[in-house]
Amino acid sequence: MRIRDLAPAEHDAAIALWHAAGLTRPWNDPRSDLDRALAGPSSTVLVALPDGGAGLLGTVMVGHDGHRGWVYYLAAVERGRGVGRALVAAAETWLAAHVPKVQLMVRAGNEGAAAFYARLGYERSEVTVWQRVIRDDPTCPPPTTLLG
Ligand SMILES: CC(C)(COP(=O)(O)OP(=O)(O)OC[C@H]1O[C@@H](n2cnc3c(N)ncnc32)[C@H](O)[C@@H]1OP(=O)(O)O)[C@@H](O)C(=O)NCCC(=O)NCCS
Repeated sequence: MRIRDLAPAEHDAAIALWHAAGLTRPWNDPRSDLDRALAGPSSTVLVALPDGGAGLLGTVMVGHDGHRGWVYYLAAVERGRGVGRALVAAAETWLAAHVPKVQLMVRAGNEGAAAFYARLGYERSEVTVWQRVIRDDPTCPPPTTLLG
C-alpha cells in the first residue's frame, strides 16, 4: 500500500468512509472539518491506497497546534490488514517534523480503537478533555447534550 495526501477528487470518498466507520456525529460537519484541515500548513489528511491502484483503503487526519500533534478520522475500509497501523505510522512521521508528541481522543465505548492504539504502544493519558462551543457554525446543527 502507499500513503499520500488526500486528493480533491477523493473528498467525497473520505467522508463516506468516515460515515461508514461510525466517526461522524450530527453536531460535527465532516466536510467543514475536512476543509479546515486542508486550509493551512499545520494539518492535512493522509490516505492509504493499494499499490498501483485507486480507491481509498483508509484515512487519517493529522495536525499540530505548535505544542502537540493530534490525530482524527482514522479509519480503515477493511479491518485487520495493517492499514490502521500504516496510517498511524505515516501520521507520526508527518507530525515528528513539527512536534515531539502525538495525542488523540477515543470516544467512550470505542474499545476496539482503544485496543488498537494500545497495541501500537499508545498509553491512556491521565487528563480529562474539557470543551465549550465558542462559535455557532451554520453548517452544523446545534450541539445536543454531547459534544465531540
Ligand atoms: C481503528 C482502526 C482504524 C484500526 O485499523 P486496522 O487496519 O483494522 O488495524 P491494523 O490491522 O493496522 O491493526 C494493527 C494492530 O492492532 C490490532 N488491532 C486492531 N484492531 C483491534 C481491536 N479491535 N482489538 C484488538 N486489537 C486490534 C491488530 O491485531 C494489529 O496487531 P498486530 O500488528 O500485532 O497484528 C479500524 O478498526 C477502524 O477503522 N475502526 C473504525 C473507526 C475508528 O474507531 N477509528 C478510531 C477512532 S479513535
